[in-house]
Amino acid sequence: MKYDFDERIDRTEAISIKWSKQLRKQMFDEVDIIPMGIADMDFKVSPAIARAVQNRASHETYGYGYPSEEYLQACVDWQKRRNNWEIQKDWIVYTPGVNMALVCAIEMYAEVGDRVIVQSPVYYPYYDYIEGTGRKIAYNPLVNKDGRYEINYEGLENLARDEKTKLMILCSPHNPVGRCWSYEELLKVGQICNKYHVMVAVDEIHSDLILQKEPFVPYATVSDQLAQNCIICTSPSKTFNLAGLLVSDIIIPNESIRLAFKKKMAPYYLWPGNFGAVAQIAAYNESEDWLEELLIYLRGNAEFLYQFTQARMPEVKCQVPQATYLAWMDFSAWKMSPRQLWDFMLHRARVAPDNGQVFGPNGEGDGFQRINFACPRAQLKEALERIADARDKLNMSSTLCSENN
Ligand SMILES: Cc1ncc(COP(=O)(O)O)c(C=O)c1O
Repeated sequence: MKYDFDERIDRTEAISIKWSKQLRKQMFDEVDIIPMGIADMDFKVSPAIARAVQNRASHETYGYGYPSEEYLQACVDWQKRRNNWEIQKDWIVYTPGVNMALVCAIEMYAEVGDRVIVQSPVYYPYYDYIEGTGRKIAYNPLVNKDGRYEINYEGLENLARDEKTKLMILCSPHNPVGRCWSYEELLKVGQICNKYHVMVAVDEIHSDLILQKEPFVPYATVSDQLAQNCIICTSPSKTFNLAGLLVSDIIIPNESIRLAFKKKMAPYYLWPGNFGAVAQIAAYNESEDWLEELLIYLRGNAEFLYQFTQARMPEVKCQVPQATYLAWMDFSAWKMSPRQLWDFMLHRARVAPDNGQVFGPNGEGDGFQRINFACPRAQLKEALERIADARDKLNMSSTLCSENN
């Protein structure tokens, strides 16, 4: 391996939301806790990105930037090389993150009181975007078939048919369940949404993090009809660990949708930051070999997590996800209430994953925890050992499990 993903980096002084001691104390009432939530990686960026950012910093002028030809071309070339998706530079709209683009899509397509479809359990800020802007959540829960999640097309069609439903947010690949949707699955979703004139905002932020043989299919490559009714949210931030640099590329093939999106964003006068812009160029143009090694390491971590769980906590269900660096672990055999499970993680195991309940507020996340395995394997091992040791101490067959309150 050319790159060292085993190195443990102290991020406690890096103004990191995941590692700040002050925040850990505030949020979890614990400082000695291993944070295994929040979707960023505990790895250094590629040397090419570090060099580009350091060079830019040494220039010592930090005025307004703009989406340069080189910046846009890097995104075009990336989509072509990785996904065989041919896009044009003028299809790309810069936003400082996917969150903002999705809120913008909601405000464009759904009026206050209208409904927006999401497939729970899902990345929980979606709920905040919808409710926070006065729109209503239309839940189409995924169907859990022995740990593999599938789409309920009948449910989707029933929701799409309602004339108050204006938009669907499709998470592809899906955080937290790790599914990489197939061509057929995307086609069915798109056909239903198009039939009822429901706009589709597709969140493809995890699309480079493919861990198994199923390939990532960009939504807009499925058919021209689908491409003409969508807003695709992409970003180098998950792939290359750049979330703090606020870069995302919103790709909109349809001209009138793109113009409307640009008009909506125009009053904010947003430009790529100096560091985000050079980081994107270095990521897409010079860091592909780093990504290939990262994927090997992540596959190793996912396999380690699976084997460890089988050996030490066989009643806990998990799988190697098709995509993302997030494991959706099912602790329901412990028969703890969501509250008990969360307390167990924080105060007995002293590990802070993301609490499953927040991804599925109607019970789809009860009994689950989301564990971010984009960290050095020694850290992952330590976190899993803490959970397994705490479980052994508790003796799962004893009273706590049967209390269930
Ligand atoms: C599915 C998904 N969408 C969006 C985001 C946030 O994107 P950004 O930081 O670009 O706003 C995340 C971050 O974890 C995510 O997992």
